[in-house]
Amino acid sequence: MEKINITPLAQKLEYYGQGQLLSFYAGLEKSKQEQLLEDINKINFDLIKSLSSEHLESLEEKSIVQKRDPIDALDVGELSQKKRTEFEDIGNYALSQGKVAAFLVAGGQGTRLGHELPKGTLDIGLPSGKSLYELQAQRLKAVSKKAGKDVPWYIMLNPVHAHQSIAFFKEHGYFGVPSDSVHFILQNMMPAVDKNGKIILADKHKISLSPDGNGGCFQALIQGGSLAEMKQNGVEYFFFYGVDNALIKMMDPLFIGYTIASGQQIGCKVVEKMNPEEKVGLLMLENGKPKVIEYSDMPGDLLFEKNARNRLKFSNGNIMMHLFKVDFIEQFGKERLPYHRAHKAIAYIDDKGCVIKPDSPNGYKFEQFVFDVFPRAGGVAALAVKREEEFAPVKNRTGVDSMVSAREMVMNLYKQTGDDILI
Ligand code: UTP
Repeated sequence: MEKINITPLAQKLEYYGQGQLLSFYAGLEKSKQEQLLEDINKINFDLIKSLSSEHLESLEEKSIVQKRDPIDALDVGELSQKKRTEFEDIGNYALSQGKVAAFLVAGGQGTRLGHELPKGTLDIGLPSGKSLYELQAQRLKAVSKKAGKDVPWYIMLNPVHAHQSIAFFKEHGYFGVPSDSVHFILQNMMPAVDKNGKIILADKHKISLSPDGNGGCFQALIQGGSLAEMKQNGVEYFFFYGVDNALIKMMDPLFIGYTIASGQQIGCKVVEKMNPEEKVGLLMLENGKPKVIEYSDMPGDLLFEKNARNRLKFSNGNIMMHLFKVDFIEQFGKERLPYHRAHKAIAYIDDKGCVIKPDSPNGYKFEQFVFDVFPRAGGVAALAVKREEEFAPVKNRTGVDSMVSAREMVMNLYKQTGDDILI
């Protein structure tokens, strides 16, 4: 049997200070050796090196004072009927011309929820027993029917769990959506590192890998050829959304029309923050450019600051519903977005080869966030919508932002509107 010469690779790993990755190599059976080498070959060591020096040398995040200003959002509640119809007409026309695709990012690990399968398969306990995927599919079908055209549905998954979502779609006949309009795409994975920037082994033959964050979606769209395919098919915008909002309004024509009419490259739906300490990212201007700042990165005084109307000055909560212009993503999507580090408890293998599951954070994962592309646009078309009509996140099993609270919100809206599309 041909023996693989790993000397050049071992030298390369030593150069990058990652020699530990081959600690158990010699004792592995061939298939596991191959698996390990395959994973190692996918790693961008220069990137890991620069992220480690950028993020780990000083454990304090660099806090340079930035000029932050609120961004004006158009409040749907204050729109005249005339304006509303005008925007909806523009949106409906774009949909009827096949100019808008749906783009779901469903590659997260859903660790807080602790559901065995991908989050989209979750039944949140509605009377229909429908999963999150099915709720989205039924709303999308209604949009396609009204538009007289099937809306292409792009779905980003992570490579480790993709097969489970794909099997679920197949088992359920794609929930009645024509299978040729559903496009699964895969995002990239990133290795986790310890406090010294050493890549963590999850097992003797396995690197500790996790999805590269929802901001990995642009690379995924470009690498897999989906963005080019959209363009070829006349798609000019895509509606970006997360998997875990049980009240997701798919392809809202008002939002689409408003963004198109504004001439912006990005549309962003927001909801008014409930209270200063609500843990939601905020859309604002930073040094004059649109940006979402995470709750944890907002200085305390800005969280509480009020405006002349005695309302919170920074109140536009980001709910992960965006409209992106395809041309804009084609131009900027290739550029690397910043990575954010997350301090996590990461299973690792010790010197003796035993798997250890720590209770407290021992390492870092790196993720990109979709909204970090915002500053590259001149502005965004921000639309403030009603939380009770559009935003029921499912992050936890119980309590705040859980399947219980989301179910309650969906049922409340259903009781008021009687709209079957909701349940
Ligand atoms: P979250 O930030 O809520 O992460 O994702 P999560 O992985 O679903 O849940 P936790 O934090 O582990 O509990 C917001 C959205 O971004 C997607 C998720 O699927 C969800 O729709 N996402 C997140 C990706 O598509 N890829 C990622 O790498 C991370």
